[in-house]
Amino acid sequence: MCGIVGYTGARPALSIVLDGLHRLEYRGYDSAGVAMVSDGELLVEKRAGKLANLEKALDELPSGCGMAEGTTGIGHTRWATHGSPTDRNAHPHLSRDNGIAVIHNGIIENFAKLRVELEAAGIEFTSDTDTECVAHLLAEETAALDGGGRPEQRLAEAMRRVCRRLDGAFTLLAVDARAPGAVVGARRNSPLVVGRGTGENYLASDVAAFIEHTRDAIELGQDQVVLITPDSVEITDFDGRPAAGKDFHIDWDASAAEKGGYDCFMLKEIAEQPRALADTLRGRLGASGEIQLDEVRLSDQDLRDVDKVFIVACGTAYHSGLVAKYAIEHWTRLPCEVELASEFRYRDPVLDRSTLVVAISQSGETMDTLMALRHAKEQKARVLAICNTNGSSIPRESDAVLYTHAGPEIAVASTKAFLTQLVACYLVGLHLAQVRGIKYADEVSAVVEQLQAMPSKVDRVLETMEPVRELARALADSRSILFIGRHVGYPVALEGALKLKELAYMHAEGFAAGELKHGPIALVDQGTPVVCVVPSPAGRGVLHDKVVSNIQEVRARGARTIVIAEEGDEAVVPYANDLIYVPRTPTLLAPLVTAVPLQVFACEIAAARGHDVDQPRNLAKSVTVE
Ligand code: F6R
Repeated sequence: MCGIVGYTGARPALSIVLDGLHRLEYRGYDSAGVAMVSDGELLVEKRAGKLANLEKALDELPSGCGMAEGTTGIGHTRWATHGSPTDRNAHPHLSRDNGIAVIHNGIIENFAKLRVELEAAGIEFTSDTDTECVAHLLAEETAALDGGGRPEQRLAEAMRRVCRRLDGAFTLLAVDARAPGAVVGARRNSPLVVGRGTGENYLASDVAAFIEHTRDAIELGQDQVVLITPDSVEITDFDGRPAAGKDFHIDWDASAAEKGGYDCFMLKEIAEQPRALADTLRGRLGASGEIQLDEVRLSDQDLRDVDKVFIVACGTAYHSGLVAKYAIEHWTRLPCEVELASEFRYRDPVLDRSTLVVAISQSGETMDTLMALRHAKEQKARVLAICNTNGSSIPRESDAVLYTHAGPEIAVASTKAFLTQLVACYLVGLHLAQVRGIKYADEVSAVVEQLQAMPSKVDRVLETMEPVRELARALADSRSILFIGRHVGYPVALEGALKLKELAYMHAEGFAAGELKHGPIALVDQGTPVVCVVPSPAGRGVLHDKVVSNIQEVRARGARTIVIAEEGDEAVVPYANDLIYVPRTPTLLAPLVTAVPLQVFACEIAAARGHDVDQPRNLAKSVTVE
């Protein structure tokens, strides 16, 4: 979602801010803009489209206009919510006197009411955004404070007053031509971090924006305002009481956010999966064989009292939850429901203090998942987060956390986060089973050993992907591709279809294989590609045979069958037009290998169709609005 950068120091701010915006491109955006404070003036440039459009406009400015010289500035990449992605709606937005510039991530829910009030006071709006009202409100408040205190303190106080009037989710940054050297930020339900330098400071929606300059960061708490100058960082709550953020050191490498020689981040992240799995599994078995979570604010008794598990998540993370249900129910004998986070609270789910809600999120900032979590907590349920982003909102608000150590995931389409979410879900299932006395330590370590074998199995899958890439290129002009699977193969089918939709902009659907005959089989026509995810014949014979029958059904209707099966599975050979073998794996863990060819397949089809694989159209990496 929107990317936000602010800088104040002794160096020219423009290039630092633009570099930061490039590093935040992965969040997804459809317009971009900057505002620089230079010589008591505010200079703004903004453009619809990619950063290249903004950079071109900046290049065309007359030299000496001050834009490149200012040492304080803010920049924004916008993912449109209120108002279409046009130059006029791009951020920053200005107050009427052009003295204050504001950028914003999130949604101001009461903006319509505020806009009516401002218009009644004679202010003419120049955009359709909710953000613009903040610029006007800040101008009103700083004017009311005129004569009281230093200009940067006035801007900070104005921000506090304005924030108290706003409903919704927001990260805001503002600069004021009369307060050179100051950037003021605020946050509610949306992330904001401070980067501390020497004689310079940064603000950003995430650390990727300033990691090449500093690794010392402060994460702002909920409802806080921060004022940065080159030499100071002052944090208060919305009422002006001094407050503290959470200091932390960024321990991932800047190169982790680079492509490392791959054509795109997605390919790099697919290749990183064996390491990501190994990192997520590292150190998970305690001295007496018990599973170690990362943060636990729940007692074992709390977990023993659990009588039902709900998993809430969105998109790919939801698919990992669908797989988790099979493992959790099998290992713990607890009922487990999986729910799209965006639907969860609207259907009034039955929750109480003996319900465990597992919230899965790569970013830790997905608003739908965060709101589902909050709803669960209001009903007194316990919440356990599975998350890839240290210190983000979802783990912060949960009672226990298991971090996936996938490293930064930059490509919009989730790959390594998905595989590590699966591992984290298995670990949670094992932990619950053990604490509740359903599995003994040796049984848990037997499964952990099977999990520890997975990184090298995924490695083997990756080594054999050339035929999958060839197949993808051959099918790049297909009108539609269907995916079928049973048991844990069903969520894998859904995930394969999602990857193809989001990357290749192609019609794709995943079905439970047994459900085909109840309708969807009518979609199968001569040559329709159908990807079939086949379970191990060794695990559950009945399941395997049923899927083989489903493959025969679609083939009989003209489908081109692309079969993903376990090495040595001869039964599928007569019915496969294309056969992709994956290493032998216990049934419940099979998604860790069967999902990988589908990631490669979608990535290659998208590339063959000429799409931007890392930043598919209309999508954002971190979806911080509901
Ligand atoms: C698809 C994808 C999305 C995310 C979803 C949840 O490839 O990446 O479907 O999985 O938006 O995001 P997180 O995991 O950050 O909550």
